[in-house]
Amino acid sequence: MYRVLRISVRFFAVLLCCVIPGISRSAEAQVDLSGYWDVRTPNPGQDGTFRDTYFEIREAGDSISGLLIRRPNGIPITGSFKDGTVHFVTVPPPPSATNANPPRPAQRPLVYDGTYQDGKLMLTIQGRFGVLTAVAERVTKEATMPPAPLPLPALTDLPDNGLARTPPMGWNSWNKFAGKVDDASVRAMADAMVSSGMSKAGYIYINIDDTWELGRDSNGNITTNKKFPDMKALADYVHLKGLKIGIYSSPGPKTCAGYEGSFGHEEQDARTFAEWGIDYLKYDLCSGLDIYKEDAPTLQAIYQKMGQALEETHRPIVYSLCEYGRAEVWTGWGAKSSGNLWRTTGDISDNWESMDKIGFSQIKLATHAKPGHWNDPDMLEIGNGGMTADEYRTHMSLWSMLAAPLIAGNDLRTMADETKSILMNSEIIAIDQDPEYKPVISLSSDRGIEVLMRPLHDGSVAIGIFNRTNTAAQTQFTRNNLPASLAGKEISVRDLWKHEAVAMPGGTFQATVPSHGVVMLKVSVK
Ligand code: GLA
Repeated sequence: MYRVLRISVRFFAVLLCCVIPGISRSAEAQVDLSGYWDVRTPNPGQDGTFRDTYFEIREAGDSISGLLIRRPNGIPITGSFKDGTVHFVTVPPPPSATNANPPRPAQRPLVYDGTYQDGKLMLTIQGRFGVLTAVAERVTKEATMPPAPLPLPALTDLPDNGLARTPPMGWNSWNKFAGKVDDASVRAMADAMVSSGMSKAGYIYINIDDTWELGRDSNGNITTNKKFPDMKALADYVHLKGLKIGIYSSPGPKTCAGYEGSFGHEEQDARTFAEWGIDYLKYDLCSGLDIYKEDAPTLQAIYQKMGQALEETHRPIVYSLCEYGRAEVWTGWGAKSSGNLWRTTGDISDNWESMDKIGFSQIKLATHAKPGHWNDPDMLEIGNGGMTADEYRTHMSLWSMLAAPLIAGNDLRTMADETKSILMNSEIIAIDQDPEYKPVISLSSDRGIEVLMRPLHDGSVAIGIFNRTNTAAQTQFTRNNLPASLAGKEISVRDLWKHEAVAMPGGTFQATVPSHGVVMLKVSVK
């Protein structure tokens, strides 16, 4: 009865508003927003693409509630709809810290305001990114749901692709540029990679992260958006500089930034990447998590599918698994799916807490890495401005002790001398790139002072004395802590940041290590 009444009220309101325009607002007030909505926002970077965010809205009186639809449970929304004016906010749950994801600050709510016009919601959205405009349209429930999983291949051990015998070194666009990366900035970064001396220091991959994608042409081939008019020409440019080029995709239908993923087009995309001349693929799980189960066999099959597709191109393409350490990728399935490196953690941020938590949680995983198959605690933030020089030296030293990939994430065109001296410290890079991988060992961990040791191929050892505390610390290191292979031998000790020999009188080395800083030593037989 109520429904019939409401429908007829709506019918008359619509009729009246056609005749008397001024009445439209009160007529719209009768509209019930309940249902499913697609909120389309333009992506940053003016690339002509949009992001779809789906909502389930429930209206009761003037109040609205519901969900921003997101795996696993969605984010609750609360607000009102009155006289054609809508207002609601997301209420993000407190972030949970897991092994893979260090604790993060609570997400700020997003605030949606707007009006109902002609069946659509014209919205402004406020968040930490500033203010965005968006148009929301009704969709079916099915449109908000992820597609059904595709059949996955039977598990097999893919052969080692022979690449990345030492941890890959290069640059990636995400940490500095995120959605603002484009053809011009990638070319400029390739230029700067060479002119700054970075390429000579060993950094050779120029990797385009998320937001280059547009959609698919009528043959299902993946296409680039306005920011990347000709990917093959860009690859040629990078190759002419003596560098290699990397790209990014996802096993899900959407990438993490909401762009086109490789779901259902894995072989086709691998062929496209090879035709463009791509040398490195970062394959980011993202919306694959909405579709597939998160257990090791399923993730292995997902990554094996692309690994196999890459191999079938017969082009050497470094395969970078980005799955945030899910299902303990390091225990075997990462290498079996031909991954050359695999993320072991959530995303790094340019601050001490993030880098410290990620970096020092990696030591226990070191035995799982081997030439061709590296743990990846995420890209470098050195030079991005959120940490002190001491902290960035710790970042570089720790990643090198771990034999982590060294993928710079800063603007190479505008590097301060200090940043250059950190990223291009050849003595530290040599630790990272030691040709015979031997895992780092924790010698001691005492009240924030961590002493790490990494045996090197020539019988020498690298020692890192790290100070994680908030005050400078007096530290010492004695000969007795060195491995038996160095016992009784005449040794020389070098400070790898000061680039000078240091004395070990009476077999003891003493140093003041600044807060959040490091002393890196190389101890060799004379
Ligand atoms: C994820 C990855 C990041 C970056 C973004 C791009 O968060 O972990 O490294 O690639 O996606 O959307």
